[in-house]
Amino acid sequence: AGSQDIASRLLAWYDAHHRDLPWRVAPGAFARGARADPYRVWLSEVMLQQTTVEAVKAYFRNFVEKWPTVEALAAAPAEDVMKAWAGLGYYSRARNLKACADLVALRGGRFPDTEAGLRELPGIGAYTAAAIAAIAFERPAAVVDGNVERVVTRLRSIETPLSEAKPQIRALVEKLVPRTRPGDFAQATMDLGATICTPKRPRCMLCPVREDCSAVLSGDPEHFPVRPPK
Ligand code: ADE
Repeated sequence: AGSQDIASRLLAWYDAHHRDLPWRVAPGAFARGARADPYRVWLSEVMLQQTTVEAVKAYFRNFVEKWPTVEALAAAPAEDVMKAWAGLGYYSRARNLKACADLVALRGGRFPDTEAGLRELPGIGAYTAAAIAAIAFERPAAVVDGNVERVVTRLRSIETPLSEAKPQIRALVEKLVPRTRPGDFAQATMDLGATICTPKRPRCMLCPVREDCSAVLSGDPEHFPVRPPK
């Protein structure tokens, strides 16, 4: 099947099987005129940089209850923010979070709506900029995390060791990203990687793109992504 069919299948699967996470809006919300709140998308993506979804949930809820807007977070004493972050680890993230909130608040509370603009902010690297651009602003950005790398290397049975395959993976994701619902597409590939296309014992029988997957054909999906020889 072509790229558009693969994207359509992933989106249909996401509509039915997406994880309910506190920072998400309903699938397809953009098409119905709803918008994700860039503040919530940004906050969740920074928290998720080095922490699992399960651990992030409670911290995310606490933060948005205490500080519902980026202006509220900017107005908070840094010490309070650091305290609320305690337990999430990687404390430079919390310092960058506060610096970023202060900067965005100074600019009227609006986050930049492009990958390039987002990347200029403290604590926002290539991955996070792409995720926010796609999920909050419906930009067709290629959002590539470890889950997505696994999905794509299996889909195309990429034998190149993962460390050298990044440009190839990025190019494939760029081809797959649909013009409509790029934010849902990004989260669909993440969810597929987290729940179906898992590192061990992937549940290929339940996968919406199993017919498109050359790792399934190969009979050994766990072989991908290929680790470099030691
Ligand atoms: N990991 C990073 N960002 C995520 C998101 N938006 N949904 C699920 N897992 C994620």
